[in-house]
Amino acid sequence: MTEEIHKGLAGVVADHTAVSKVNPESNSLLYRGYPVQQLAAELAFEEVALLLWNGELPDAAQKEEFRAFERSHRALDPRVKSAIDLLPLDCHPMDVGRTAVSVLGANHPLSEDSSPEAELTKAKELFAAFPAVVAYDQRRRRELQLVEPREDLDYSQNFLWMTFGEEAPEEVVDAFRVSMVLYAEHSFNASTFTARVVTSTLADLHSAVTAAIGALKGPLHGGANEAVMHTFEEIGINPDETREEAAARAKAWMEQALAEKRKVMGFGHRVYKSGDSRVPTMKQALDAMVDYYGRGELMGLYDGLEAAMGEAKNILPNLDYPAGPTYHLMGFDTEMFTPLFIAARITGWTAHIAEQRANNALIRPLSAYNGPEERHL
Ligand code: ACO
Repeated sequence: MTEEIHKGLAGVVADHTAVSKVNPESNSLLYRGYPVQQLAAELAFEEVALLLWNGELPDAAQKEEFRAFERSHRALDPRVKSAIDLLPLDCHPMDVGRTAVSVLGANHPLSEDSSPEAELTKAKELFAAFPAVVAYDQRRRRELQLVEPREDLDYSQNFLWMTFGEEAPEEVVDAFRVSMVLYAEHSFNASTFTARVVTSTLADLHSAVTAAIGALKGPLHGGANEAVMHTFEEIGINPDETREEAAARAKAWMEQALAEKRKVMGFGHRVYKSGDSRVPTMKQALDAMVDYYGRGELMGLYDGLEAAMGEAKNILPNLDYPAGPTYHLMGFDTEMFTPLFIAARITGWTAHIAEQRANNALIRPLSAYNGPEERHL
């Protein structure tokens, strides 16, 4: 009998989820029923996190309670700092993020408590604690000292404060907040599915998140946002040229890359085939940063690549395409982009971990053996 193989699980519906709905036909993405564009336009990232965990928007008291909780759990745990200090400066920052979550799990008093209350507490703590990991790692790579968090700033303001040691302008904070909201959740993508697989074995939350970070690191998934910037760097960023000149160089680069059958990161999607629902909102945030920093020539590269890919293969950009240059303009090193994605996706991962645990079945597919027939020594 020949089994039907679903390579890459493409087209397989593995379970129900009430966390988000990705609809490729209408190019829409709903978090708990709300269009992500509306959430990005109107809500703080902290409110979106509560929506993903609780299923409903927070009321004033819930907002206030989480505001106090999040602000009091931001400091870098000294044990995490010691572990990070042991890691070489040339390791990938995703390795740092993965290690940090593992250290937090190993030290957590509720590590093996998988009750819904304990899981939610751990999720909220991870949400609050992770920005300090990214910020400290970015700073140590620049030979700068740790910056302590500030309780008078919101999540996005404080993230940028801890990273750069100065208060970010409102425009930058807003673009950063939008990126966090858009990166928060996207149904059964590779990293979320990884988190659900680990949870399905009844392992703890930090193990599931650590594994998810491993899945996110790859350039076919979260690693694409930094790969986009490497493409821009390979083409060459030249602030002195015009937008048109940059676009022409980018177009020529893309034609060459496609002729060589290269995969160009930041384009294409397993689910969306006529455009990623999150791109227009992220592109607006990128445009705001380009205006703020006066870097129009960067959009020459952006437009040139997009146009050439569209003409040659009709493949459209995904969220990582506008997110990469946005983080670049804000001043993050390219390798820090995917850890920023972790900070956002901790919300979606932990919402899915809770959902998986509440109605669990071990995730264990079959395989079709194609090795040698039975043989004997
Ligand atoms: N560059 C060049 N060609 C591409 C690209 C791309 N980015 N994406 C798809 N194609 C081509 C493939 O070469 C293939 O062509 P062929 O049929 O002639 O062989 C065809 O389109 C189908 O591509 P698959 O990789 O089979 O499609 P799949 O649905 O498996 O891939 C994926 C989706 C992995 C995202 C793919 O588009 C890709 O590799 N993109 C680049 C990585 C990337 O940007 N990932 C980020 C995803 S979004 C996120 O994580 C937020």
